[in-house]
Amino acid sequence: MVAFFIYLSMASKEKNTPIDFKIVKQKIKASGLSEIGKGSIREIVRLVNEIELSTGKEFVRMEMGVPGLSPARAGVNAEIEALKRGVASKYPMIEGVKELKEEISRFVKLFLNVDVSPQGCIPTVGSMMGSMAAYLVVNRNDHTKEGTLFIDPGFPVQKQQVRVLGHDFCSFDIYEYRGEKLRSKLLTYLKTGKVSSILYSNPNNPSWICLTEEELKIIGDLATEYDAIVIEDLAYIGMDFREDFSKPGRPPYQPTVANYTDQYMLLISSSKAFSYAGQRIGMMVISDKLFYRKYPDLKRYYTSDGFGYSIIYGALYALSAGVSHSAQYGLAGILKEVNDGTYNYIEDVKEYGEKAIIMKKMFLENGFRLVYDMDIDKPIADGFYFTFSFPGYTGVDLLEELLYYGISAISLDITGSERHEGLRACVSQVRKDQFEVLETRLKKFYNDHS
Ligand SMILES: Cc1ncc(COP(=O)(O)O)c(C=O)c1O
Repeated sequence: MVAFFIYLSMASKEKNTPIDFKIVKQKIKASGLSEIGKGSIREIVRLVNEIELSTGKEFVRMEMGVPGLSPARAGVNAEIEALKRGVASKYPMIEGVKELKEEISRFVKLFLNVDVSPQGCIPTVGSMMGSMAAYLVVNRNDHTKEGTLFIDPGFPVQKQQVRVLGHDFCSFDIYEYRGEKLRSKLLTYLKTGKVSSILYSNPNNPSWICLTEEELKIIGDLATEYDAIVIEDLAYIGMDFREDFSKPGRPPYQPTVANYTDQYMLLISSSKAFSYAGQRIGMMVISDKLFYRKYPDLKRYYTSDGFGYSIIYGALYALSAGVSHSAQYGLAGILKEVNDGTYNYIEDVKEYGEKAIIMKKMFLENGFRLVYDMDIDKPIADGFYFTFSFPGYTGVDLLEELLYYGISAISLDITGSERHEGLRACVSQVRKDQFEVLETRLKKFYNDHS
């Protein structure tokens, strides 16, 4: 019945949507996607590009986490210098150049208060490649185990990666299992003895919940007890702006599972923190103990039973034989300034939190609701993402309907969320000069649908 009314309301507004109704309809049809609302991030990007091109109208783009800021200047300068020195003609070492490894090790000490020797600090082609390489080793170190447990909602491509590899995985939406409740939920999976690795992002993409020390301790303790490896994805490191994580070597530090187990790998992307997405470089940080741990079952795939050795000379060698030489020097240049305290990267990215406050308000004033709205007992923080819904709509239908209003997002359905009514909004690409247009379009949507 609700769907029928939605259909009627859509049909009656055919000529009067901010973006030409017929063109949007035709582009959706031409996309070949059976359900546009379940499209991947990149599929939505492509569709919106095409609608923009055909209509000449700019969208308020909230579907993809592209940094909306300039790249960290120290990185650009260091890369140019490195290229002028001629590094482009040389193969970089797979484990990373010395300067970078040392700066990564310093960074985790100064911003997470964790000691990892440079050996276990390895550049990857974005955190995307970090997770791919991780699965290739963590899910193959014990033939009795089957795969990754994702603490969802999560970044959809990470599941695409395990599917492509043919690994098993399981997942659950953490929202109803916060705090101490997380322990019994995790145990239901770990007790099967089949979980080789546990992956989550913190702050969380897409819900922006931030795990507490209590929760990280639960994850760490259980990982040790059940011999699973935690892959902690810190793509949004330091961006829980309710705390000031910006001072090197001074508390508070970015919370991390590394304080509670030795069974960890951290993935620290440079894409968002340093607006360096285009250079495709991230950091993989493996605990000293895990790096040197031996897993006889790794010999099924690699020449060594050593964990760290298999990551570098097995997985990363096979994937790309290292990371672009100049990008490594670029990231080393950024980290040096950040570590020395001469560049406060968090000051730059705080803008995302400021935009989230304004954008959330606009949505709420126009009949929308926040989906993941609480961080245990506090309102969810303002950061890179927020999640929203509109009464009477599923997320999948809402995504499609919003396209006629020139607003794009992704459905929570593709993130492993149990909140099927929701969409994820990413604030980064929305410029402040688009706020007025966003507000006008949201108002019109509200008027047309209430
Ligand atoms: C949670 C999460 N992990 C990993 C990534 C990928 O990062 P990178 O650009 O370093 O590959 C992203 C990018 O959006 C992300 O949101």
